[in-house]
Amino acid sequence: PTLMVPSAASPPCSSVTLTQDDLKKIAAYKAVEHVKSGMVVGLGTGSTAKHAVDRIAQLLQQGKLKDIVGIPTSTKTHEQAVSLGIPLSDLDSHPIVDLAIEGADEVDPELNLVKGRGGSLLREKMVESASKKFVVIVDESKLVKHIGGSGLAMPVEVIPFCWNHSLKRLVNLFADSGCVGQLRKCPESGKPYVTDNGNYIIDLYFERDIGDLNEASDGILRLPGIVEHGMFIGLATSLIVAGIDGVTVKTK
Ligand code: 5RP
Repeated sequence: PTLMVPSAASPPCSSVTLTQDDLKKIAAYKAVEHVKSGMVVGLGTGSTAKHAVDRIAQLLQQGKLKDIVGIPTSTKTHEQAVSLGIPLSDLDSHPIVDLAIEGADEVDPELNLVKGRGGSLLREKMVESASKKFVVIVDESKLVKHIGGSGLAMPVEVIPFCWNHSLKRLVNLFADSGCVGQLRKCPESGKPYVTDNGNYIIDLYFERDIGDLNEASDGILRLPGIVEHGMFIGLATSLIVAGIDGVTVKTK
């Protein structure tokens, strides 16, 4: 079901111009309405999810939420949550997460996602696949017809050992889709980007559709040296999209 609700920040006749960050915040705040006292909550990573973490902390401080346990999906989110005083745990102590709230780089109509352009795909996938509910929050720029077809990166986390060999095998796997791959580097140092888990990221770019997503996923994960990829297939349970005309909520 798809439901249109007016955006609180965009009342009728308002002449306010919303920035992309305003839209991210609107989607994040809407998602946090699903957080209830006593829940174990997956805390996402990125500029959209950051607003959700801020909002959870605010509600805790105001006493409107109680006994929340947060499971952060990156060291960055861990630091943010600690600085805001959100009680934290991990999947070892809390293997079942009630609700995860997370951004995405691409979302298709079936709620399949590309994630990891921010570099945190592995922990995100671990937390989100342990979640009873996984709410994706995006501004409307993230909506695509087919994930992987936007011409933007589809990240794959690989072990550093012989990463170039892994890159070639990944590119070969998707030769029919006109794939090229690139080792992600830190813009400042020019050195390889290192994930929270001590691994590298290879960004794949496709000229043509990658076909069946589950086959693509299986093919990637069969390659030795690959840790995880940024396609999140069938994991999201609902999607909150903030656009200039309001907020759309889609639930599977
Ligand atoms: C980090 C991610 C982020 O969720 C994704 O990159 C979206 O980020 P943003 O909300 O900043 O657009 O997958 O690894």
